[in-house]
Amino acid sequence: MGAYDRSSYQGDRVTDAESTPARANIGVVGLAVMGSNLARNLASREGNTVAIFNRSRAKTDDLVAEHPEAEFIPAFSYEEFAASLSKPRTAIIMVKAGRPTDAVIDALVEVFEPGDIIVDGGNAYFPDTIRREKAVRETGINFVGAGISGGEEGALHGPSIMPGGSDESWVTLGPILKSIAAVAEGEPCVTHIGHDGAGHFVKMVHNGIEYADMQLIAEAYDLIRRGTGKSPAEIADVFADWNTGELDSYLIEITAEVLRQNDAETGQPLVDVILDQAGAKGTGAWTVQTALALGVPVSGIAEATFARSLSSHPEQRALASALPGPEEEFHVADADAFIEDVRQALFASKIIAYSQGFDEIRAGAAEYGWSIDLGAVSKIWRAGCIIRAQFLNRIADAYDEQPDLAVLATAPYFAEALTRGQAAWRRVVVAATQAGIPSPAFSSSLAYYDGLRAERLPAALIQGQRDFFGAHTYKRIDKEGTFHTLWSGDRSEIEAEDTH
Ligand SMILES: NC(=O)c1ccc[n+]([C@@H]2O[C@H](COP(=O)([O-])OP(=O)(O)OC[C@H]3O[C@@H](n4cnc5c(N)ncnc54)[C@H](OP(=O)(O)O)[C@@H]3O)[C@@H](O)[C@H]2O)c1
Repeated sequence: MGAYDRSSYQGDRVTDAESTPARANIGVVGLAVMGSNLARNLASREGNTVAIFNRSRAKTDDLVAEHPEAEFIPAFSYEEFAASLSKPRTAIIMVKAGRPTDAVIDALVEVFEPGDIIVDGGNAYFPDTIRREKAVRETGINFVGAGISGGEEGALHGPSIMPGGSDESWVTLGPILKSIAAVAEGEPCVTHIGHDGAGHFVKMVHNGIEYADMQLIAEAYDLIRRGTGKSPAEIADVFADWNTGELDSYLIEITAEVLRQNDAETGQPLVDVILDQAGAKGTGAWTVQTALALGVPVSGIAEATFARSLSSHPEQRALASALPGPEEEFHVADADAFIEDVRQALFASKIIAYSQGFDEIRAGAAEYGWSIDLGAVSKIWRAGCIIRAQFLNRIADAYDEQPDLAVLATAPYFAEALTRGQAAWRRVVVAATQAGIPSPAFSSSLAYYDGLRAERLPAALIQGQRDFFGAHTYKRIDKEGTFHTLWSGDRSEIEAEDTH
């Protein structure tokens, strides 16, 4: 047997568990902020009766006391929890990712039966989910890794949910998850993403895209502030205005809110008193590491992740602050024209970031054998999650029209937007470069765009170099076969075995 050996469990035994009526159709294990909000959300939906359990008793007692309307069925041991659930038993784990998740799975496997369903709703790394699913499956119990996005508010009022796992588990789980998910244009923001780790994979890329989107917005703000001298409150108005057009999204909306906020203590704009070191919980890094392994360029997400890392090295930044920048002050002559250029650059870069993210999902699906409907993924991100935006409807349209579209950015709507915006995008990247204002996400997105559309890349020279020092061979544009030049001999060309 795999990691979840039923004989290894040493948890509490409760003698009267068998007398507990099996009334709940769903249970939640882990009642910190996410779990308790998710449990309340479940309980508020017609037809759900919710069993709850937490490792330490106090959280369970508190939740029952604070929310009598939810009519929770509290359990104080795993046996009691299992006994309170109707079959197939279905439990959502919302505990700290990593070892705690394994500990809870271990305990549930001990008290659940074949056909029951264990859902991990935490932020698991998808290879862990693949491993767990394989091990739990050996017991006949279904294991579902479900990405849940939207933070505390989403968990309470309706998150975007990305479940993986078996088709069998989806039959039971689907209606329950649909009952609690956010709703966008009448459709619940949940779909069965694919088997085993597919849900957590897609959630990971969602977070990576979120990193890129946030970095792009931050660069836009920085350029406008330094280029026009506008105050954060004035720039808040710019973002509020942008939120009425094609950039309409939750992140643009909250950016305006943050920029408008003044610090009560100093009277300064809050953004000026917040330390400029961005934190991260690792999902951006996972997205980039996975993309590297898959050979998918997600440069926007990578630059966004690295930008957070750079910001968080104050000692290096202090040391480097003496290095020279451009001599001239940066001030644009026409503030309105510059702001419109930045808006277009932001939209174009955003298209690239999403195109790269969907490329990673496509490549992940091919690598791990998942059948992922990319249009359905974009639709479930339209509400409940951090990257919710109007724009996602256009992504769904693109995949509806061409489900096997290899590059999202080439779909007619996006190609038109890039055509319209590219001149402004270039002006902004040039201005940022000349002004010495870091814009890694803007400029790397533009470089990717130019690389992708290039008729010919200098990769030919790289192949020549590789053949020179390592006899790695090359192919020719004018005939079939694999070739090597005898660089240290007479430099004639020979046919060679493909060693790419
Ligand atoms: N999607 C999102 O936007 C979002 C946001 C936040 C969090 N999350 C994810 O959701 C999950 C829950 O997050 P959270 O912030 O609510 O809680 P958390 O702080 O990550 O975890 C606390 C919970 O884990 C339990 N726990 C810790 N170690 C345990 C163990 N060995 N065995 C059993 N239970 C254990 C705790 O029980 P005790 O009370 O007994 O200590 C408590 O219920 C995490 O995976 C987190 O990454 C997602």
